Amino acid sequence: MVLILNNARLPVRKFATPEIIFGSGSIELVGQHASNLSHDRVLIVSDPGVRDAGWVRIVENSLEQSGLEHTSFDQVKINPRIENVEEGVKHYLDENCDLIVAVGGGSPIDCAKCIGVMATNEGSIEELEGVDEIQIPGPPLLCVPTTAGSSADISPFAIITDREAGRKMVIISRLLVPDLSIVDPDTTTTMDSGLTVSSGIDALAHALESYVSTASSPLTDMFALEAAKIITNALPRVHLNPLDMRARERMMLASLYAGLSFSNASLGILHAMSHGVGGMYDTTHGVAACALLEIIIEFNYPCVKEKYIELENAMFKTTGGMETLISHINRLLAEVGADQKLRGCGLRKEDILPITEHVIQDPCLATNPRPARRIDIEELYERAL
Ligand SMILES: [Fe+2]
Repeated sequence: MVLILNNARLPVRKFATPEIIFGSGSIELVGQHASNLSHDRVLIVSDPGVRDAGWVRIVENSLEQSGLEHTSFDQVKINPRIENVEEGVKHYLDENCDLIVAVGGGSPIDCAKCIGVMATNEGSIEELEGVDEIQIPGPPLLCVPTTAGSSADISPFAIITDREAGRKMVIISRLLVPDLSIVDPDTTTTMDSGLTVSSGIDALAHALESYVSTASSPLTDMFALEAAKIITNALPRVHLNPLDMRARERMMLASLYAGLSFSNASLGILHAMSHGVGGMYDTTHGVAACALLEIIIEFNYPCVKEKYIELENAMFKTTGGMETLISHINRLLAEVGADQKLRGCGLRKEDILPITEHVIQDPCLATNPRPARRIDIEELYERAL
């Protein structure tokens, strides 16, 4: 036998994912699946908007039909804070729960992930910051995402805001990957048009960043490419007609694909910079992503030209290069009303220096295809203002 070695071998990579159930009406299956995981009481984590939209009531009914007791913590803020997690942990322990069901967008799901691990680990949440710092798994976590964008229901990430320090803590651990995600596209119909677009652009940013990430691989590339392609087609359709259920379903599928990609290939400088803005100003994460797409493509392009051409081909069926890709993307952003600047998130010139200090520490920066220095980040913020 001849062992042939060359430089074209594939890198060693892992691929982690929750069990996934996808489809219209699948939210009704929560009770059936929760009954395999809970014997005592279920803690439902959500926010006031998701409760008002009626999705929490459907989950409660489903749990009751399966004979499960439940209690609710539904005061999670947009960009969940340390205090939300502490309050949720107290609720979980006081009520003797043994399963968490998170219903909502990225905020309730990230908060639920941290409630789980803070209920089982000693110390403060700050000690879990960074990569693989969590020692003990939390209780089982079942997610019902109600936005097509964050993919927190798939990912090993949780982002918690430290309001006092004006920054976002990024916690990454395979112990944060939920056990089960029940992905029902019908739940996205109660998003308003602003959230529909910003979460959709966040999903696009997940696809683009993970596709060019230094940790990308064939295990993740196909999901990233397909997600970018679907979003390019489906997001304008959803924006035009929010009740186009076929397009809503496509967006939910694309968000799931982008989540599978970034959960395993990680992200890049766009997310590090948008976490920076979101930590200081309470903007939703996708809004900052809209303002950063163009300048980040320009910054990274020389290092991953072939990959951007593959993305351009998948999304727009052209292979013109950087200017063509950017003009297509700007047209897409304008079409869905997302052509904004960071100024619109509240960012001021004098914020750039302190925010850059946080960005330098963000784990998402580690997999950006082009190494970024402090001065690069400051310049990129100035351009996106
Ligand atoms: Fe994101």
